[in-house]
Amino acid sequence: MATTETINTKPIMKISSEEVSGKGNIPFYKPIHREIEVFQHAFKNRLPILLKGPTGTGKTRFVDYMAHQLEQSLITVSCHEETSSTDLIGRYIIKGAETIWVDGPLTKAVKEGAILYLDEIAEARPDVIVSIHSLTDHRKELYIDKLGITVKAHPDFMLVASFNPGYQKGFKELKPSTRQRFVALSFQYPTAKDETEIVETETGLDRDTSKKLVNIAHKIRNLTELGLTETVSTRLLVDAAMLINSGLPKRLSVKVAIVEPLTDDLEITQALTDLCDLMI
Ligand SMILES: Nc1ncnc2c1ncn2[C@@H]1O[C@H](COP(=O)(O)OP(=O)(O)OP(=O)(O)O)[C@@H](O)[C@H]1O
Ligand SMILES: [Mg+2]
Repeated sequence: MATTETINTKPIMKISSEEVSGKGNIPFYKPIHREIEVFQHAFKNRLPILLKGPTGTGKTRFVDYMAHQLEQSLITVSCHEETSSTDLIGRYIIKGAETIWVDGPLTKAVKEGAILYLDEIAEARPDVIVSIHSLTDHRKELYIDKLGITVKAHPDFMLVASFNPGYQKGFKELKPSTRQRFVALSFQYPTAKDETEIVETETGLDRDTSKKLVNIAHKIRNLTELGLTETVSTRLLVDAAMLINSGLPKRLSVKVAIVEPLTDDLEITQALTDLCDLMI
């Protein structure tokens, strides 16, 4: 028979492969809309959050920032097509002559009261989605089938997931029944003013050059006829700014950090390089 286990203590986290943060210096995050307020209220009500948006728009940085702000531990799992519920919940491992159970990141977060961030949730295998269902509704509990127990979530447990709707191109969509279990926040490219501030603050590059990089990004983002799968993200601008700051020539920095990562098409690469050379 299934038993219900409630663990209310918050032990020091012992972490293996997945990434844990949320303590230490608060990272820089420039709010774009009212996402901080939304997250705070979702946390207060322990509602799961889904962050939607293209690559490099600050989703991961935002979760990191919120974990620090709320003084919560953060466990990040980068999902890929092989990620299964076993990876999340836990498994038996053989240690010497013994077989011992090891909690996975989801179980740890549920027991210890951490924010679990499932990055690119749509990539994971369907059983991952099934395993989080009972945590995303009023039950707030996790069923561990291999142990035959149900664990009630710690009051500080919160689930955050991200997904990139554009790049999924419809074939790995999240089902409505899953989406509707989350409060959702959309991430988009910031305004030129905000993005300049991000580039400047992140890298220490001067305002004038930061502005030029942002202008390049806005120009390329408007060139929808290029048919790029993903366009220039804030991440690419930050990378270019870092290279410039460390002494690499500006045009070369833009070429390797902005143009080349966008496309392998030689004609488009040349056209974008010419365009950027005129702008910086
Ligand atoms: N609002 C912001 N405030 C501060 N930095 C930002 C912001 N948006 C983007 N950045 C910068 O862009 C970089 C990339 O952001 P981040 O890794 O959070 O993107 P992401 O949306 O998680 O991308 P992906 O979908 O590829 O995981 C950050 O490391 C940071 O330098
Ligand atoms: Mg991310």
